[in-house]
Amino acid sequence: MMRKFMVAGNWKLHGSESMLKNWMADFVTNDQSAKGIDVALCVPFLYVPQLSDSAPRSLIVGAQDVSAHASGAHTGEISAAMLKDVGAQLVLIGHSERRQHHGEDDALVRAKFKQALAQGLMPIICVGESQQQRENNETFAVIERQLAAVIDLLDADNAGQCLLAYEPIWAIGTGLTASAEQAQEVHQFIRSQLASKDVTMARQIRLLYGGSCKGSNAFELFSMPDVDGGLIGGASLAAEDFVAICRQANKLLDKKQSN
Ligand code: 13P
Repeated sequence: MMRKFMVAGNWKLHGSESMLKNWMADFVTNDQSAKGIDVALCVPFLYVPQLSDSAPRSLIVGAQDVSAHASGAHTGEISAAMLKDVGAQLVLIGHSERRQHHGEDDALVRAKFKQALAQGLMPIICVGESQQQRENNETFAVIERQLAAVIDLLDADNAGQCLLAYEPIWAIGTGLTASAEQAQEVHQFIRSQLASKDVTMARQIRLLYGGSCKGSNAFELFSMPDVDGGLIGGASLAAEDFVAICRQANKLLDKKQSN
């Protein structure tokens, strides 16, 4: 069976009740998920219940972060159980903006990943290097270190319910997209790292690319053998742009099926 694509949208610190209402109306009229891609949207915590109430069954309800703690004296935190309680199914963990600006280190990413797994939330673990690290030829070393924090928690049983996203920091929100070859090179590296632990797990986990992905470059990126989908930021704020990316994923499935 053809492996599905996951096209996930990340709204970051954007959104309002009316924006979500309008987004959903546009998305539902153009829903691209029926053909064989998985589609998720990650909104700020406050809008998760509204997303959950208004999303069609085909749209996976996502949040952008989760507490590393299950409960207790952690003012302002949102636990994995709370997210589940209001309908979340998926959560971003270790996004570079959290790593860079909110002091999130590999140990914290690991703890959050454990919480998500314990509650049956589908985690998207984000990894990626900075411009400086790429220029210093440290890309693989950085990714290897970020993966090492979670790799022992992944196995053939949970890999189908976990996602990894490669998001080069220099490509996020900059309009600079990694070329399809650059993305493939790192995705292949990630897959080989995972395979050195468990080949079946490495085959089952879907690897998403994120960083200035849009309708015009999605097809080329998704055509790469180890790019299983995209994690979309800016181009997911308008349903129309997001749907255009989903269409590219479907176009690729059509092409593969006709071969
Ligand atoms: P952009 O698509 O805006 O570059 O953002 C990517 C991202 O960070 C998604 O999580």
